[in-house]
Amino acid sequence: MEPSGTLDSLAQELRVFRPLPQLVVEANVNPQELTAYRRQAEHDPLGYWEEAADELDWYKKWDRVLDDSNAPFYRWFPGARCNIVYNCLDRHIETANKNKLALIWEGEPGDSRKFTYYELYREVNRFAGALRTLGVGKGDRVVIYMPPLPEAVIAMLACARIGAVHALVFAGFSAKALRSRIRDVDARLVVTADGFYRNGQIIKLKPIVDEALVGGCADCVDSVVVVHRAKVETDMQEGRDFWYDDVVRRERREAPAEVMEAGDPLFLLHTSGTTGAPKVVSHCHGGYMVGVNRTLNHVFDIKPTDIFWCTADLGWITGHSAVVYGPLLAGTTTLIYEGHPNYPQADRMWHIVSKYGVTIFYTAPTLIRMLMRFGPQYPRMHDLSTLRILGTVGEPIGPETWLWFYRHIGRGECPLLDTWWQTETGMFMISPLPISLLKPGSVTRALPGVAVDVVDREGNSVPEGKGGLLVVTKPWPAMMTGVYGEDGEAQYRQAFARFPGKYLAGDVAKRDEDGFLWIQGRADDVLNIAGHRLGTAELENAFRAHPAVAEAAVIGVPDKIKGEAAKAFIILNPGFAGTVELMVELQNHMRKELGPVAAIKSVEFRDELPRTKSGKILRRVLKSRETGEDPGDLSMLDDESEQAG
Ligand code: WTA
Repeated sequence: MEPSGTLDSLAQELRVFRPLPQLVVEANVNPQELTAYRRQAEHDPLGYWEEAADELDWYKKWDRVLDDSNAPFYRWFPGARCNIVYNCLDRHIETANKNKLALIWEGEPGDSRKFTYYELYREVNRFAGALRTLGVGKGDRVVIYMPPLPEAVIAMLACARIGAVHALVFAGFSAKALRSRIRDVDARLVVTADGFYRNGQIIKLKPIVDEALVGGCADCVDSVVVVHRAKVETDMQEGRDFWYDDVVRRERREAPAEVMEAGDPLFLLHTSGTTGAPKVVSHCHGGYMVGVNRTLNHVFDIKPTDIFWCTADLGWITGHSAVVYGPLLAGTTTLIYEGHPNYPQADRMWHIVSKYGVTIFYTAPTLIRMLMRFGPQYPRMHDLSTLRILGTVGEPIGPETWLWFYRHIGRGECPLLDTWWQTETGMFMISPLPISLLKPGSVTRALPGVAVDVVDREGNSVPEGKGGLLVVTKPWPAMMTGVYGEDGEAQYRQAFARFPGKYLAGDVAKRDEDGFLWIQGRADDVLNIAGHRLGTAELENAFRAHPAVAEAAVIGVPDKIKGEAAKAFIILNPGFAGTVELMVELQNHMRKELGPVAAIKSVEFRDELPRTKSGKILRRVLKSRETGEDPGDLSMLDDESEQAG
């Protein structure tokens, strides 16, 4: 949407949190070092990223760090050869990490499996060999449609090991959505499971794959590998379907890693599509591993004893960079959980933290808000004292949720790091470090080596204290290498077209007087009320500051006088009723919080909000209901009944 008028925000958050002195002393990157990194990255960004690349192993080093002769199609580390899996596994089994836990998995019924680096290496080799035996080779696309199981991680790494390109599809997608995603990437093989546990039930997965493959995809997909998880009756099509256990049993131990060009594709991934149809983004072996390794190590201050739990599903970029590749590159222990966060009750997450001694917990605001509704008595049931760092990603968290997470989960002692990044960026871009000053709800500053700006409609930097469009002004190593598909090149170019040489993130942000950045929401979602542009995040955060409100979504609806007016959809906390009195009270509350410009035309109380399967609020679905506009692609909608309604 075309921004016009001011993009300033109304809210001001004045609280500042400092790290505990002990934490600063123990941090891998101390304040002086951070300043030095920033200075180096500013004066010599390519030198900065070259040093980051030198921390990893390469078969052959680069001819140069960056080739920008065909911008915006940047090539990082041209001439270099590597394989990200060599750096995730082979490199570690030559060191003391060999017998360290790489992966902990907890099933919903409470079963658990653990893999050392050596064991994971062995499993990945076996499945890599099996994929080769099934005729999959370098450049072939493999769709992984799996619940969070160790085999999903193994399949990702096995593909990458042999140079095949994985494309994960979240296991909550329907047959129709799966079919179009298989087609989008022209997959040759699908890896799936018979079923899995979710909320105390078995969800069958294989029949969904069968349905997706009927007709359309049968010509491109020639094999399906099925992991035996739920042990349910499963139809297997002779010649096409194979049990995972059968195909790996035959394999020898070693399957050598394919030597890849740095820019060769590692994976394809659909964006979440909050504001339009999803794009199929591609990432590569070389630049991606350099960017992810450096930023994950810096932000989460990885120590040899950490247990790292990122709750994202593998099917999102967060699952790729912060569950699999980042933690394994860093040689830490990554944890995955199969099931529902509230099964059998609202303390499951905290039970897992205490059971395994999780030290770093990285999650999404939507999950925290859901758990907040159940109250602090659930985290209090468990010993969370092992936690030392918290993180969040995916949506603006807002001060209220931030403070709850910080106090009730982090005991007021763990730095809470709000990381801003995207499927397209591959790596963390804007984030504090554990040593940073924090303001609840702010993503703080760009990481060293990352150059961002907030600009007005003409592309000029806005002064401090003002809002505008978030752009990235210099290329970064883990940037997407392209967009896959017929219109891919045009879609890729579009991201750099509005302000030449700058990547338009599509988010609205504000830089405050101290230079801290605040993300206000997606630019397409921003409201224009009587010439004032208000971020959805800002309005929603203000709603959440009211004790009755658990969750809020705000959209703009046409208004004769103001051009646009705000309508709010509210989920109430337990014990509150959606009365007219409460509606009036909320309208007054908003006026008090943000001023008269934040007039809320109407409030609708709801039990649910339409969300993407990754938990982001899909405001365009609410909006299309109100205005009768076409809501666009709905395959990413979490509750399919919303589509019908
Ligand atoms: C939003 C997720 C506020 C933003 C890694 C971005 C955030 C989109 C934050 C990308 C954050 C991500 N604060 N908003 N810390 N992190 N976003 O591709 O709108 O699923 O453009 O990548 O999520 O979502 P994606």
